[in-house]
Amino acid sequence: MKLQITGVITTIFLMNNVFASDGEALYGQLCASCHTSNAGVKIAPPIFAVVDHVRQAYPQREDFIAQIIEWVDEPKAEVALMPGAIRKFNLMPKLGYSQNDVEEIAEYLFDKDTVLSKEYKEHKKKGHGSH
Ligand code: HEC
Repeated sequence: MKLQITGVITTIFLMNNVFASDGEALYGQLCASCHTSNAGVKIAPPIFAVVDHVRQAYPQREDFIAQIIEWVDEPKAEVALMPGAIRKFNLMPKLGYSQNDVEEIAEYLFDKDTVLSKEYKEHKKKGHGSH
């Protein structure tokens, strides 16, 4: 009986993790492979740096979301907010993702900002964010 209950609780916990935030799951599938926040391999700027730049330029939630959608739909060097990142990593490729998916990701990234900012501050403290 005890075991069964543990099993049920575990299942609920796992389901919650999967369905808690589609944006988070989609971000993991579609963006995290390049925008990793671990300090190892570097093929793109870490996501908290990206969010920080976009958010400074577009502090309103709707504008932020619109900007992410437009960018992912077609990255263009002329309008990039992070020209230094293009020099370092080359322009982000056009990925052909569905706008719905990207919208959910953008919402997730905006709403998660407090967490991301904390990471970013630590990143800056270590002197990697000064460009
Ligand atoms: C194949 C690797 C790759 C994937 C996948 C990827 N990106 Fe990027 N992204 C990059 C690189 C490289 C840059 C830095 C160069 C640049 O700005 O184009 C970048 C830059 C950005 C920027 C900054 C744009 C600017 O104004 O300079 C945003 C915003 C962004 N990515 C969002 C996303 C989102 C959201 C996803 C997932 C839907 C995603 N990226 C998936 C490689 C990737």
